[in-house]
Amino acid sequence: MESIRRTKIVDLLKREDFGAMVNVKGWVRTRRGSKQVAFIALNDGSIIHNVQVVVDLANFDENLLKDITTGACLSVNGELVQSVGSGQKVEIQAREIEVLGKCDNTYPLQKKGHSFEFLREIAHLRMRTNTFGAVFRIRHNMAIAIHKYFHEHGFFYFNSPIITASDCEGAGEMFQVTTKNLYDLKKDENGKIIYDDDFFGKMTSLTVSGQLEGETAATALGSIYTFGPTFRAENSNTPRHLAEFWMVEPEVAFCDLQDLMDLEEDFIKYCVQWALDNCMDDLQFLNNMIDKTLIERLQGVVKENFVRLPYTEGIKILEEAVKNGHKFEFPVSWGVDLASEHERYLVEHHFKKPVIMIDYPKEIKAFYMKQNADGKTVQGTDVLFPAIGEIIGGSVREESLEKLEAEVAQRNIPMKDMWWYLDTRKYGTCPHAGFGLGFERLLLFVTGMSNIRDVIPYPRTPRNAEF
Ligand code: 4AD
Ligand code: MG
Repeated sequence: MESIRRTKIVDLLKREDFGAMVNVKGWVRTRRGSKQVAFIALNDGSIIHNVQVVVDLANFDENLLKDITTGACLSVNGELVQSVGSGQKVEIQAREIEVLGKCDNTYPLQKKGHSFEFLREIAHLRMRTNTFGAVFRIRHNMAIAIHKYFHEHGFFYFNSPIITASDCEGAGEMFQVTTKNLYDLKKDENGKIIYDDDFFGKMTSLTVSGQLEGETAATALGSIYTFGPTFRAENSNTPRHLAEFWMVEPEVAFCDLQDLMDLEEDFIKYCVQWALDNCMDDLQFLNNMIDKTLIERLQGVVKENFVRLPYTEGIKILEEAVKNGHKFEFPVSWGVDLASEHERYLVEHHFKKPVIMIDYPKEIKAFYMKQNADGKTVQGTDVLFPAIGEIIGGSVREESLEKLEAEVAQRNIPMKDMWWYLDTRKYGTCPHAGFGLGFERLLLFVTGMSNIRDVIPYPRTPRNAEF
């Protein structure tokens, strides 16, 4: 075959130099045609659209033609011609075809319209469908948006460790990391495992959050963000929870509650606008196939002012709803941790736009949140989104060493493991704040997908670590 430099389909579809000889490489999505001519829809992943390859059957060997089946990988040389029927402006009149990879007839993506549940079982192939191609191109674009936003706003990208000895959220939902022989564990006289001879000489786990290390960086570099995988061993089999998910965690010195809420809102809007500006082909596809109101909803969020709502007022609204006959599964009263049905009532029913809820009861939030003067509430901020619920959890941090130590003691958090964190309050403490955005929850919103397992390539959930 003549050697011609490959053109990606995303670039090819923009070209207008009809008559040029081009080469494309990709996978056959469909093949149809007659006795004389075949039409091959070829996709290389660079864009949702296929390029149509027109094959004059008389000019090609029969043995080659029979290998051009759905899923096969081809290299095609041909003439770029104007197209009338393919849905694109251009198509390729094939001159030479090489089958780079034949596709076995057990290929599971023969037909359109597989369920997402089925596609999860073949996650290694589902990226070849239109829907998952769109989702993962958008995922890439949102990661770029995140780095761009923070870089443009003077934040430094900071890499917090994945293996850690501290439980940031204090919820005890950590996966342990060990090189010990689990069949032969050394224990002390009380039956507690001895970690002295383990790899790190102490009990270690995969991090649930990079925040604590992020705070040490913010008190040195001013504004930082982390963006990496985090792990939670919570046994939550829901469409919103993963055991391994990616989190974006900015941490900012000299930032108060107002600044924090402004940052959360501005950041989300920037990311959503980025998707609208850079992913329109994929969004349009998802809008047609998954959710007819997707683009409208994304445009709406960018324009809307998020509601800023103290927890106490939120509870009043919910209690009022109950009085007026609304039925919740879980009871509502001041002090409870809101269930997702409560959050959704506020966001989808009452306000009909995103809500930043603030000033939560101290007891239901983590130890590091700044305490309000009322002695009851803390400056936590949860950003609640329609259909998703909590997309961001953040707070102003308690900067007083005294108050923080009292909280650590009261919650029985082992002091000796926290010494380095408490040092930030000992050596020139400063007011600061930060938040964590669940990357996959943002992707649920931006793509309109409804299960979090469908916006990460290889989901990790209870009893599921295939691939
Ligand atoms: O609210 P969370 O637990 O907050 C923290 O971890 C803080 N340390 C963040 C900070 O202030 N730096 O988690 C933050 C966000 C949630 O709002 C949610 O979007 C996401 O992380 N998240 C999950 N996403 C998928 N699966 C899970 N199991 C998640 N748990 C939390
Ligand atoms: Mg939270």
